[in-house]
Amino acid sequence: MTSQIENNLNSTIVIVGGNGDLSLRKLLPALYNLQKRGLLDKVNRVIGTGRAELSQKDFLDLVTTKYLEFVCSDKSKIQQCGHWTKFLSKVDYCRLPADEPAQYDLLKAMITADGNRPPVTYYLSTVPALYGSICQQLKSHDLAEDSDRVVLEKPLGNNLETCNEIHAAVAEVFDESNTFRIDHYLGKETVQNLLTLRFSNALFNPLWSNRYIDNVQITVAESIGVAGRADFYGKTGALRDMVQNHLLQILSMVAMEPPAKLNADAIRNEKVKVLEALTPMKPDTVRDNVIRGQYTEGAIDAESVIGFLEEDGYGASDGNNDQYANTETFVAIKAEVHNWRWSGVPFYLRTGKRLKKRYSEIVIEFKRQPFSLFEDDPNDFANKMVITIQPDENIRLHTLHKKPGLSGKLKLQPVALDLSSDPLGANDSYDAYERLLLDIVNGDQTLFMRSDEVEAAWRWTDSIIHSWTEVGLGVMPYSSGSMGPNKSLALPERDNKSWHEG
Ligand code: BG6
Repeated sequence: MTSQIENNLNSTIVIVGGNGDLSLRKLLPALYNLQKRGLLDKVNRVIGTGRAELSQKDFLDLVTTKYLEFVCSDKSKIQQCGHWTKFLSKVDYCRLPADEPAQYDLLKAMITADGNRPPVTYYLSTVPALYGSICQQLKSHDLAEDSDRVVLEKPLGNNLETCNEIHAAVAEVFDESNTFRIDHYLGKETVQNLLTLRFSNALFNPLWSNRYIDNVQITVAESIGVAGRADFYGKTGALRDMVQNHLLQILSMVAMEPPAKLNADAIRNEKVKVLEALTPMKPDTVRDNVIRGQYTEGAIDAESVIGFLEEDGYGASDGNNDQYANTETFVAIKAEVHNWRWSGVPFYLRTGKRLKKRYSEIVIEFKRQPFSLFEDDPNDFANKMVITIQPDENIRLHTLHKKPGLSGKLKLQPVALDLSSDPLGANDSYDAYERLLLDIVNGDQTLFMRSDEVEAAWRWTDSIIHSWTEVGLGVMPYSSGSMGPNKSLALPERDNKSWHEG
C-alpha cells in the first residue's frame, strides 16, 4: 500500500537512536548509498537523535569515523566522489534523552526550521520498551501528523503480551498504514526473489506442495558469538532473536498461497495465514520437536573462541553469569504448517551462534522416485532446490545426470544447476537496509510486517517457550565451530531425513 507521503518531496527522516550501533553501521551507510545512487532526492534532512551531548560537528565526525570503520576503510574514496559531503550536508543531530521530554520542542524547531513542516519518518532504533512513550511524546508535542510514518525495529516485545502493549501504544499515534515494522531479512534479495521464483514460473508452482515436496529446511547459521550484546542476548536467546522474526518470515514466504495481487496487503494476508497455521507446541510435543543448545569454547576458522557464559558484558560484578545458564544460543525445531498444501511436510528450522560458518539457506527437498531404473542406483537421491541467502546469493537445483563418456552403462552423477539470475555477481549488490529504507521513503509496505503477522509469530513462539519451561527443557552444550548439539542431527534423522549441509 502506498500512502500519502509518496508524492511529497523533501521529507525528513528522524532516527531516534541516531548515534547507536544500528544507525551508524547500517542505517546511515544505507542512506548514503541511496544518495549515491540518486535515490534519496525525496529526503532533504536526516536528523539523528541520542542521549549524548554532541554538537552537529561531533555527530558528523562520528558518522564518518564509523563509516570508515565498518563500511569502507578507504578515506580517499568518500573524499573524492563528493557524495559524502553532499550526504553529510543533510545530516543533523538533536540531543533527545528519553527522560527529558522538553527536548522534543527542540526537535520540533529543527524539523520546522525551513519555515514549512515536511512529512517526517520517525525511525525508532532504540530500546523497544520506549517505543510507546516516544510515540506519546511525539503526539503531545504535535510532532506526529497524519502523513508521518514510524519505523519499528525488532524485537517487538519479548512475548505476545509485551508485543501487544507496544502495538497498542504505537497505534494510538500512528495508523497501521504508516507503521513500518522492519525485518531486515525481507530486504535481502534472495528472500524477495522467492516471490518471483514461485509465482512467475509455471514450472515450480505445480510442484510446490505436499504432493511433491518431502520437507523444507531453513538454516541461519552464524559464526559470530554475542558480538558485544551479551546482556541483551542473555535475556533474549536464539528463539526470540532469530526464529520469531527472520526464520518465520522466510517460512511464510516459502509456504504462502499465491496472493490475489502483488500489493502489500494481499501478500501479507497470505503470509499471516501461514503463521496462523503453525501447529502450536505443547508440553507433550516439545521434547520431540525442539532442541536447545548453548555454545562452549571451541575454534572457528582455526581461532579459539570462548564459551557463551565466559563472554564479557553480562553486567554481573562478580563475573558470575549463571543467570544466563539456560539461555539458548542455538535452536532447532521441527515445525508443521497445518493446512491443505503443507500437511505432512516437516519444516525443519535451525539457527545458532558460533556455528562452523556463516550461511543462510532454504532447502526444498522433493520426494524421491518411486523406484530406480538405473543399475547400482540405491534410489537415495532427492532433487533439492537450495536457495542460498548468504554469504552468496544463489539458487541451485540439485539433479542427476548421465556421467559423460562412452561407457555403455547409464551411470548417474549429481549436477547442481545454477538458477541464479546473476551468478557472476555482475549486478550491483545492495544491503537489505537500502532496499527497506527506499521502500519506506516510497511508502511501500510490502516488505514490512503487519501487526497481525508479528502477533501470530509471537503466539507460536510463546507456545514453544511455555512448553519448554513447563517440561524443563534445558540447553545442551555444543562446541563453538560445530553445527550445534549432536541431538539436533537426530531431529530430521528420526524421520529418515537429514540436514542439507551447505
Ligand atoms: C539480528 C539479530 O536481527 O540479525 C542478530 O539480532 C543477528 O543476533 C543478525 O546476528 C543476523 O543478521 P545477518 O543479516 O547478519 O544474517
